[in-house]
Amino acid sequence: MILKSYSQKMQTLILKDYEEMSQVAANEIIKTIRQKPNATLCFASGDTPKRTCQILAERILNENIDISNCQFIGLDEWIGIPPENEGSCTYFLMNYLFKTLNLSPNQYHLFNADETKSVEECKKMDDFINKSGGLDCILVGIGLNGHIGFNEPNIPFTNYCHVAELDELTVSVGQKYFNTATLLTKGITVGLQHLMEAKKAILIANGAKKATIMKAVYESEINNQIPATIMRTHPNGLILMDEAAADLVVIR
Ligand code: F6R
Repeated sequence: MILKSYSQKMQTLILKDYEEMSQVAANEIIKTIRQKPNATLCFASGDTPKRTCQILAERILNENIDISNCQFIGLDEWIGIPPENEGSCTYFLMNYLFKTLNLSPNQYHLFNADETKSVEECKKMDDFINKSGGLDCILVGIGLNGHIGFNEPNIPFTNYCHVAELDELTVSVGQKYFNTATLLTKGITVGLQHLMEAKKAILIANGAKKATIMKAVYESEINNQIPATIMRTHPNGLILMDEAAADLVVIR
């Protein structure tokens, strides 16, 4: 799928390093919360958002930002990986954000990784996001293959929540989150249509290992072989990169 007719409205900021990128990302999320105290916020897990989550939690607590009416959503989960596994997305978000913020269970929404429940899990998440009027802010990372969440290459841009077969690269790179070799085959994820309907979409990327895919995000046709190219069409999209990730990017 190649969409040439989309307008390119997205903003890009190149920050000195991981710390600065994370501070700006956290600040963008705080701006959303200040503008809308009952915001619905969606978060990726993984190495990239770690510091953003820490800074966000610190600032919310230190600045007494009222999040009692906010709702927090986990972007995705590995199918078959239980929440107590340190490599699960649930474990990440609970430990880097939700526990620190002392959220009550009715304030966070995470996918159950049990495959037998995946159809109802997708429906539940879709219904929740739609009932909330869409996501107010979504924070995503990017895979080396250009995936966002588990929206793997070739997934339709129009998908809402769904289960995806994982790309080989996602399976091999994904081992870094686990203490022992782990069988990863599928993921459950918020879809790109939710990202496109989000009032603000922030993609963060840091480190030299992301430089090649970031170049492709800016220079390729907008097409679902590189799902993150969809960011270029988001009416309120923001890409934050550190200098290393932006090294090969030429912004026109
Ligand atoms: C994880 C997720 C993935 C990651 C991506 C980058 O919840 O949605 O799409 O954002 O694979 O991972 P890191 O940040 O570990 O490089």
